[in-house]
Amino acid sequence: MTDISGNKLKILTALCAGEFISGQVLGDELGISRAAVAKHIQSLCDLGLEIYKVTNKGYKLAQPLNLLNQEELSNAYGALTDHIGGAQFDVFATIDSTNSELMRRISQQNLNSGTVVVAEAQTAGRGRRGREWQSPFGANLYYSYYWLLQDGLARAMGVSIAVGLAVHDCLRIIGMKNVALKWPNDILVDGAKLAGILVELDGQPEGPCHLVIGIGLNLAMPSSASERIDQTWTDLKSQQIDIEKNLLVATLTVCLEKRLASYAKAGLSQMYKEWNELNAFKGELISLNTGERAWQGMCVGIDEQGGICLRQDGEVKSYYGGEISLRKVT
Ligand code: BTN
Repeated sequence: MTDISGNKLKILTALCAGEFISGQVLGDELGISRAAVAKHIQSLCDLGLEIYKVTNKGYKLAQPLNLLNQEELSNAYGALTDHIGGAQFDVFATIDSTNSELMRRISQQNLNSGTVVVAEAQTAGRGRRGREWQSPFGANLYYSYYWLLQDGLARAMGVSIAVGLAVHDCLRIIGMKNVALKWPNDILVDGAKLAGILVELDGQPEGPCHLVIGIGLNLAMPSSASERIDQTWTDLKSQQIDIEKNLLVATLTVCLEKRLASYAKAGLSQMYKEWNELNAFKGELISLNTGERAWQGMCVGIDEQGGICLRQDGEVKSYYGGEISLRKVT
């Protein structure tokens, strides 16, 4: 994907004001020719952005677009008075993957717990089980949070459950009602995926554990990207939710900090019951698949460690592991 920076980013930022702006004015402001402006506009269109071009009026974005902005983000976060953490935000126009960026910084030992990386687009967005995560420019939220947990890798096992609850909390705050959770960490609305979570770990069994918590939340997925998604999906736009993106990031961060603080104190001992209330497959016949083996059973819910419990031949068994996929048996 083309990188968005320099004059291209300046042109896009000018278009975000939502009015027609002429190629001549843009060119004069940036000290470039109208032809160079037209070239930048074309490459923005190539990224999937729809831009009207009208003779004598100039260019205008077909859909309003609000961009992530470091200052607005920090202000929105600061204004949420009951926040309990000290998050710091890094905003990128494009990046390979917000998770990869934090993983690189872990290896360079250059990070504070609570660092958030967000981007308008990812050129190599990653999903669970080695899948690609469609990340077109400006359309969705690509978010990663770095958390340092002092107690070793084993304690980190249930974190993705707490993160799913945090995303649910955030969605409730912004007005979504019918959100359900699919083990281990998909966020569903009426069976369609609205958000996904990818938690990556680095650490020793006994030493501190570095966690990168990646969240992809669909806001207004363009049809060009949606054609490449092989599962049923939805976005906030289709759910009639319109929220300013910086406020969304700030709200999500506060929700995440609250759930992580609760996890650090008591693991899932309280939260697993809440998760079970939101379980999308409660009481359903489901199939668990590792790629090599599959198990079927009635979905009971999760246990205190975050494993999924299946009733099989009258017995309840728990299964753990990030690479297991789950689906309803039809
Ligand atoms: C899933 O497969 O459901 C997990 C998707 C996680 C996507 C997010 S987008 C932000 C972060 N960066 C990535 O490369 N992946 C995660």
